[in-house]
Amino acid sequence: MTVKEIFETMDYGPAPESAAEALAWLVDQGDKFGHYIDGAFTKPGKGFDSRNPATGEVLAKLTQAKQADVDAAVSAARKAQPKWEKLGGAGRARYLYAIARLLQKHSRLFAVLESLDNGKPIRESRDIDIPLAQRHFYYHAGMAQLMESELPDSEALGVCGQIIPWNFPLLMLSWKIAPALAMGNTVVLKPAEYTSLTALLFADICTQAGLPKGVVNIVTGDGAVGEMIVNSDVDKIAFTGSTVVGRRIREATAGSGKELTLELGGKSAYIVFDDADIDSAIEGLVDAIWFNQGQVCCAGSRLLVQEGITDRFHEKLRARMDSLRIGDPLDKCIDVGAVVDPVQLQTIKSMVESNTAGHMHQAACDLPANGCYYPPTLISGLETSDPLMQEEIFGPVLVSSTFRTPEEAVELANNTRYGLAATVWTENVNLALDIAPKLVAGVVWVNATNLFDAAAGFGGVRESGFGREGGWEGLTAYTKPKGKAKPLAKVEAGTGEGAPVDPIDRTAKMYVGGKQARPDSGYSKPVWGKSGLLGHVGLANRKDVRNAVEAAAGANGWSKTTGHLRAQILYYIGENLSARADEFAARIDAMTGKKDGAKEVQASIQRLFSAAAWADKYDGQVHGVPIRGVAIAMKESVGVIGALCADEAPLLGLVSAMAPAIAMGNRTVLVASEPYPLAATDFYQILETSDVPAGVVNILTGSHAELAKPLASHLNVDAVWSFSSTDLSKEIEVVSAGNLKRTWVNNATAFDWGVDHSRRFLQAATEVKNIWVPYGE
Ligand code: NAI
Repeated sequence: MTVKEIFETMDYGPAPESAAEALAWLVDQGDKFGHYIDGAFTKPGKGFDSRNPATGEVLAKLTQAKQADVDAAVSAARKAQPKWEKLGGAGRARYLYAIARLLQKHSRLFAVLESLDNGKPIRESRDIDIPLAQRHFYYHAGMAQLMESELPDSEALGVCGQIIPWNFPLLMLSWKIAPALAMGNTVVLKPAEYTSLTALLFADICTQAGLPKGVVNIVTGDGAVGEMIVNSDVDKIAFTGSTVVGRRIREATAGSGKELTLELGGKSAYIVFDDADIDSAIEGLVDAIWFNQGQVCCAGSRLLVQEGITDRFHEKLRARMDSLRIGDPLDKCIDVGAVVDPVQLQTIKSMVESNTAGHMHQAACDLPANGCYYPPTLISGLETSDPLMQEEIFGPVLVSSTFRTPEEAVELANNTRYGLAATVWTENVNLALDIAPKLVAGVVWVNATNLFDAAAGFGGVRESGFGREGGWEGLTAYTKPKGKAKPLAKVEAGTGEGAPVDPIDRTAKMYVGGKQARPDSGYSKPVWGKSGLLGHVGLANRKDVRNAVEAAAGANGWSKTTGHLRAQILYYIGENLSARADEFAARIDAMTGKKDGAKEVQASIQRLFSAAAWADKYDGQVHGVPIRGVAIAMKESVGVIGALCADEAPLLGLVSAMAPAIAMGNRTVLVASEPYPLAATDFYQILETSDVPAGVVNILTGSHAELAKPLASHLNVDAVWSFSSTDLSKEIEVVSAGNLKRTWVNNATAFDWGVDHSRRFLQAATEVKNIWVPYGE
């Protein structure tokens, strides 16, 4: 045999990783697990088997939590929380460091247990999942250390309920637990029913680290246990999983005052331009869709190739697919392991079988006779509307179509209800950096894919959920502003009889698309002040909301303007208001019957100037992620924001919401103070003379209770805020689940409008997009 022949026929031999230690650990635990509550394991109870998906063997028996277990876990967490928070950042940092070190010390045990339980290749659990989990604890130990100096106005939320999926069991646990603990919260976490073992090993690590009891509690079970946590007395729910369940949790927590972050599904585009380094792009694709058997929320599952290279690209891709090695997850030579469970395997099979369109290629590989295996699959030639182009398959199945121009690539990439991630492959940095901001996604990778780090926030837009995990922005999901909020007080409209104060008919119109608009309903209502009738305002209805949203959506050019230009316009609004300050003050006093109108006008002018100042300074960041390159955290506008403005501060409430929103490039639909609407209808005269483009600010008048629902259910509204003195939090949050829009509602607490909360508004008015740009060859 010649060397050439040996080289050509040489195949990989098996390189099995031993499961002995992990299996011995399971035996040591008696192969049966209870829950980890208040620093100790409970007695195992009735439950279910945890199986190895590669073999079907039972690894351990797990306990299905009952309501009493969830209650015990929540009360242990509640009891432990104040002391944990008082320990201070430096005190908590020591425990987080200790956990990180122990994870490092037992890294191989964790990696093997993870692969046994989940079916992922040991190469991935060893080199990606477990090191990233450690990194998360190290990074957040640092965040705990810095909390008092860097976040002096923030405090812990309290007890956090955390529900995680099965695709990255320990990593998702770390993403949830590390920031929560760093900021002084305690947690009740439920791992996914298929993959609870590394969470239970983590519980053991918490004990070894001497973590005070009750700080981390872990309960096992299925979705029913998840529901119990959602409905329990926690201050926040952090969820990662399917969009269907995320939507249900949004509805269940609506109006409860529980904070919520949702990291949901995706159908992320993988765009390859004709100048790309094709071989690298193909290797990237292997990581994008065959990493973790494609069970990755941000998997590059939708390939878009530029037409000129399609045939060559597909040919090379098929050849690469045929060389992928599939089999025993504990074999170090394996590229693709087992799907997590027979149920998930069946879902993948039936989705693929239901498709008759396009052309399918499945990797030429021998699948192991037993176990949950599915071959790497490519389905090309699909139309955008084909179900497989739109639905998340969550398996090793790539769908592919083509595009001609960069504009078409962006259009196709954004043609999805999701918005989690996207990948751009081109040698032209100008093109990449032109495309990246146009992609509707929380993360964009340039000439790389599936890169993660604790320093770079991860999360989506649209139906991929809201909130970020990691980075500075991830911390806000585990903190709240310091101080106790006062209860909301309903502000009633004035009533009266008698002659108008002004004999001329004053029926204020609404303001839609830069024009004064009469209400569609044809109804108006009187506005009474202490001294008589001040005028009438229109009663907006669903149709007026639609018109206003359409105008706001159409004004999307505003989001592309510079911060400098937006600042100039905001200064201009401030100046024009200042010129009419006395008139506005008198109007406010006439409506409210108080004497603080002048103060309110001055504060409103200051809010406008603050927003103008921030317009070109509320910058993003460049994260020092551990690659040769950077992650650029860009702040982008949310889109169309609908706001029910404060009743008690008719001008200041409106301006405080509007100014930061438009400073960040959003367009707004503002519903004026219900009892005192005339300050808002006077205010649009200021907007008309201040060069605000049509549609950027739209002002409606009418009943908050009636307008909340059409606003919160409108699919072109991206965020809804409510500062109304009618508590509409529940109504808004329930219907917001439709397109999972962001909400900021007052939950029956009052806002102190006398204080400048610009930063909170700026934060609510922006989304962070992390664009990863590696350097060099
Ligand atoms: P799932 O969303 O049902 O499960 C995720 C977690 O939520 C698990 O811990 C589960 O026990 C819990 N859960 C289920 N129902 C719940 C409820 N009503 N209230 C509270 N918690 C609940 O995901 P599943 O069924 O395991 O997978 C189905 C599909 O979801 C997959 O095919 C995939 O498309 C998607 N998925 C997406 C993930 C992501 O990271 N975006 C992760 C896992 C699944």
